[in-house]
Amino acid sequence: MADRETWATRLGFILASVGSAVGLGNIWRFPYQTAEFGGAAFLVVYLIAVLIIGLPAILAEFVIGRRAGLSAIDAFDELGFPGWRAVGALGVFAGFWTLSYYSVVGGWVFRYIIGSLTGAYLSAPGEYFGAVSAGPEAIAFHAVFMAVTVGIVAFGIRGGIERATRVMVPSIVVLLVGLAVYAFTLPGSGAGYEYFLQPDFSVIAANYQAVIPAAVGQALFSLSVGFSVMITYASYIGDDEDMFVDSGAIAVTNTFVGIAAGLVVFPLLAVQGGNYGSAGPGAIFVSVPTALSEVPFGAAVGFVFFLIVAVAALSSAISLLEVVVSHLVDTYGFERKRTTLLLGSAIFLLGVPSARDTAWLTWFDNIGVNLLVPATVLLVVFFVGWVLAGDAVEEIQAGTETFESLGPVWLWSVRTLVLLAVLGTLALSVFELTGAPL
Ligand code: PFF
Repeated sequence: MADRETWATRLGFILASVGSAVGLGNIWRFPYQTAEFGGAAFLVVYLIAVLIIGLPAILAEFVIGRRAGLSAIDAFDELGFPGWRAVGALGVFAGFWTLSYYSVVGGWVFRYIIGSLTGAYLSAPGEYFGAVSAGPEAIAFHAVFMAVTVGIVAFGIRGGIERATRVMVPSIVVLLVGLAVYAFTLPGSGAGYEYFLQPDFSVIAANYQAVIPAAVGQALFSLSVGFSVMITYASYIGDDEDMFVDSGAIAVTNTFVGIAAGLVVFPLLAVQGGNYGSAGPGAIFVSVPTALSEVPFGAAVGFVFFLIVAVAALSSAISLLEVVVSHLVDTYGFERKRTTLLLGSAIFLLGVPSARDTAWLTWFDNIGVNLLVPATVLLVVFFVGWVLAGDAVEEIQAGTETFESLGPVWLWSVRTLVLLAVLGTLALSVFELTGAPL
């Protein structure tokens, strides 16, 4: 078996998982999805989804990974169910698919780091975003983002990025909180808190078939569940690891960063006119620079902000690429560097339409988050709940004394509640995407 890296410490595993979870999904995607799907009501559904689907599903992926000790697809053979390899493969494919446009957004972030040097985005943030988010510049920066990701994975120097995560998460929180406090002082920001934090449940009643899949999809995407990433990462951990504690730590940190981003974006959008629903994928890229244009040293703050967002984006991107690469390296014995380069090139090409036109980006995102990911999670949950069953409880109980009694409860919920919730979500998505009336 070719060079598998291992976690030297338990902290290494947590840092890598948090590094994978915290990323553009929290800072870029979460605020604009919340804005688009009704504000606080969406937030409530999202939080419920994290709790009743995301957490049990992360645990399900951990159980598969640790029990097998092999990367995502081979894990199913190792457990004695070769027929289920397709589930791992579907997750790996979701990663391949997702990275194609994730890298385009990562490229926007890189562009904004450069833009901070001259303060280019400060004079007309909306126009600036329009100019750099699609077209030749976007393609060029997508290429750069992908090249950096490939470089890190090819040389197996993830360690550096993971150590950076240790600094990145606290820094992003400090910066977001700083920006949030600034936004709080602006006249007119109050309406933003109302939209973000005061649920109007009639929104859900009126549009549940779109709101529920969007919230569940966001929860899974944000936690990196359904991409075989957590299976692969957990394949490196030992039996003394308390997976309940780990998954809880990941979910709490991840949710916290998303909410902090919301506390920046919503007040700023309120001050800047309150058009939440139409903010779209540019929400953070326009609202933050607009606010920065009003403060002294705005470009310098922007530089630090986008730099940290870039680290968050990279630590997520490498997990996506790593899973695809490690499958090919482990299973077929392919050479690591060449495989990474070839895959990176293929993913770059797949992302070109998204870099040329944001309508393609949202299409890719939609298919990935609302279809591929819930489909993978449905199968993972079914596998763990009904196929592994008792073995899964045994696996999850290893390493925990505090939460031993939660094992059977977790299995019961995976077999019923979680399974039905994901099934319902997927059904709604399919109806939404195919336009069938419901
Ligand atoms: N969770 C990451 C984010 O929120 O930005 C995105 C992601 C990374 C999804 C890795 C899936 C994954 F496997």
